[in-house]
Amino acid sequence: DRTVNVGLIGLGTVGGGVAKVMARHRDEYRSAYGIDVRIKRACALEEERARELGFEGDAFTQNWQDIVSDPDIDIVVELIGGEHPATEIFEGALGSGKHVVSANKALLGRHVERLAGIAAEHGVQIRCEASAGGGIPIVNALEHALVGNEVLTVAGILNGTTNYILSRMDAEGLDFAEVLADAQRLGYAEADPTADVDGFDAASKVAILSSIAFHTRVTTDDVFMEGIRDVSAADIAEARSMGYVVKLLGIARNTADGVDVRVHPTMLPADHMLAGVNGAMNAVYVVGDAVGETMFYGAGAGSFPTASAVVGDILALADAISHNDHVQAEIKPFGRVLPLKSIE
Ligand code: HSE
Repeated sequence: DRTVNVGLIGLGTVGGGVAKVMARHRDEYRSAYGIDVRIKRACALEEERARELGFEGDAFTQNWQDIVSDPDIDIVVELIGGEHPATEIFEGALGSGKHVVSANKALLGRHVERLAGIAAEHGVQIRCEASAGGGIPIVNALEHALVGNEVLTVAGILNGTTNYILSRMDAEGLDFAEVLADAQRLGYAEADPTADVDGFDAASKVAILSSIAFHTRVTTDDVFMEGIRDVSAADIAEARSMGYVVKLLGIARNTADGVDVRVHPTMLPADHMLAGVNGAMNAVYVVGDAVGETMFYGAGAGSFPTASAVVGDILALADAISHNDHVQAEIKPFGRVLPLKSIE
């Protein structure tokens, strides 16, 4: 068996889930793929947390540099989020020829162009299935399964917190502030909920998805953004009375004039596929010229759903590494980059 060594940075909600899912399936991967994918070392601040997850002695470090500089490590999994030191972790790992798997939508939404450039220089990949739509395999769908399409529209409920808030405002006639407090208590909202409620989180995700779907580079700064702070229970009730549902959508369209990407509260006809997506769930609706309408639904956050996406990326890389396949860094992440259309 070929051993593929993984360095896991971050043992929070997602990192902890990844450690558990990997441990649970290690034997199966060995027999199914002939690859021993092991987490050689994990990095976290809390030693106790690491010990609970089975990382002790050499398998544990509090210093991410120990992982990035370890010559045995093939894949670095960055799950700490935020910009720093995540940026340095990406740069250090890619620069030393390691693939990077990450769920860091804020970083990738802004800086993928530069980071993908470093990856290409060193012949390695960045994979980011977990960065948009959590456990929903939408990045893989757009990159691979739907490649026979010209994608016309990607429209998604990409933020569970705001969908939870809007769903409860709709069902119970509650006001925004009341429901936000519950969303935070339930752990859906980011530590700083402004990223959720003002649309930034969804904007990062739709930037990533539209870059892949349209073979271009959309950054978070290119996305028109309006959150849900100003949506009242009365607005929602009025929309209902006219046969509409209010959803915070990330919408990306490939128009004759260019790629148009936006996040804003949207009135959707009540019979639209996305209108029935309630609570903290996510869904992505894609229209392709060959496939027509298609929809992907699932948990956009949470420990195991997000771990599912991260582990899928780890395994895809491990499979390529173990076969010594050339991992085509220059076309990934985000598909072929064509000198297509300008962004409005
Ligand atoms: N705060 C995000 C959400 C978590 O509510 O969808 C997943 O990115």
